[in-house]
Amino acid sequence: MTNRVVIHTDRSTGSINRNIYGHFAEHLGRCIYEGIWVGEDSDIPNTQGIRNDVLEALRGLQIPVLRWPGGCFADEYHWKDGIGPRATRKRMINTHWGGVVENNHFGTHEFLMLCELLGCEPYINGNVGSGTVQEMQEWVEYMTFDGESPMASERAANGREEPWKVSYFGVGNENWGCGGNMRPEYYADLYRQFQTYVRNYGDNKIFRIACGANDFNYDWTEVLMREAGRYMDGLTLHYYTVPHTWAEKGSATDFETSDWFLTLRKALMMDDLVAKHKTIMDKYDPQKRISLIVDEWGTWYDVEPGTNPGFLYQQNTMRDALVAAATLHIFQKHHDRVRMANIAQTVNVLQAVVLTEGASMTVTPTYHVFEMFKVHQDAEALDVDHRSATYTLDGESIPQTSVSATRDEAGRIHVSLCNLSHDEEAVVTIELRGLADGADGAAQLPLSGRLLQGAAIHAHNTVEQPQQVQPTELTSISRSADGRIQVTLPPASVAVLQAG
Ligand code: AHR
Repeated sequence: MTNRVVIHTDRSTGSINRNIYGHFAEHLGRCIYEGIWVGEDSDIPNTQGIRNDVLEALRGLQIPVLRWPGGCFADEYHWKDGIGPRATRKRMINTHWGGVVENNHFGTHEFLMLCELLGCEPYINGNVGSGTVQEMQEWVEYMTFDGESPMASERAANGREEPWKVSYFGVGNENWGCGGNMRPEYYADLYRQFQTYVRNYGDNKIFRIACGANDFNYDWTEVLMREAGRYMDGLTLHYYTVPHTWAEKGSATDFETSDWFLTLRKALMMDDLVAKHKTIMDKYDPQKRISLIVDEWGTWYDVEPGTNPGFLYQQNTMRDALVAAATLHIFQKHHDRVRMANIAQTVNVLQAVVLTEGASMTVTPTYHVFEMFKVHQDAEALDVDHRSATYTLDGESIPQTSVSATRDEAGRIHVSLCNLSHDEEAVVTIELRGLADGADGAAQLPLSGRLLQGAAIHAHNTVEQPQQVQPTELTSISRSADGRIQVTLPPASVAVLQAG
């Protein structure tokens, strides 16, 4: 069976918030230290301590927003430990992640400098679990107050006269778990209290984000929306794709086709999950003022053999590329409510876009998906009818293809497509309806495309072989006289088509 896509180019469903393409960097394993921060005295070429190779790679993604410092780390992070001369900063234990020493060399100034270098917005996650209201209030004052105040003076004394612009602030992380093991009613009250002191100084307007549910915990969303909805701009959701069980998740690279299928089936559950949390949000916020922010998502496998179990280091294959692409399609489908998402995590942790080993670096298949899909950022979402063939394995079925279409500012149409099948090609016919010059126009539009595929479903990049998986030109496109486009996607591949 073929896969049929009709794109109604005259029917926009809204816009894709570029923050759906956000990232997350925690003080965890080798994400911040080594992955991003090497220090000014390092032999690894760097810009004020931030490694140049990673900086350059990340710039290629046009990252819109970066979340920091955690994760679980956020609720035991005391920001004042991370300011002032680095040599005298407090050394603490990173109890959540490997029990290693955290020297606090990467703190508020370094993170906000990283955001400036990347040209992205910072999303700071504050500490509710083990912090105080005063500590949170002073952090916001330190970063954003323009005038005379104790915190603004301290900032200036530490070398930064001008305040930063900080739009996104999270009040706690996973407070149902590592952030304090709270009940939703208790956290809802704490949220109301803490957010009161997360102030807007001058023209810095803060978008307040409340800690939301873990995957299927709909009760958390219900209670938060009911008790604290009017005090928040965003509510989070965390969902990780874990192929098997939390105790034995499965290997990142050594997997069977049944694991491939299972992983993709679980990744697609994001659709239903988002839809159900949205239904609860709609009940309390029919105007859709509050955003659903999926600020942790991605694959979670067993750590690579021989690595620190607390560092969550895993390889990244074409399977991850398909998870990323299909999940981004789901977020785009729910763009009316999902206005930010942050894949976990940027470098060397979980479904990373960049992996480093000492002075070497490679980008992952997931990186390429983010790079290819950046054309969707802030674009207009187009109404799409999609009839997919079915991908069946061992009696279970999922759709074989996934698709999303947008129009950019210049009027070009971008269609991203995935073929989830591990062994069958997908023939996709695409009809562009509603163009001002009709089918003739569709027949004339310049067409081009890029394709991401590997030599096998396990294909991945390493620092020794960094180009095993990289985008190539999509050549299997044809067009009939009436403008209908036909694309043949190889098994286990992702493509982005440009018309116009
Ligand atoms: O991303 C790794 C961890 O997963 C985060 O620290 C935590 O919020 C989640 O449980």
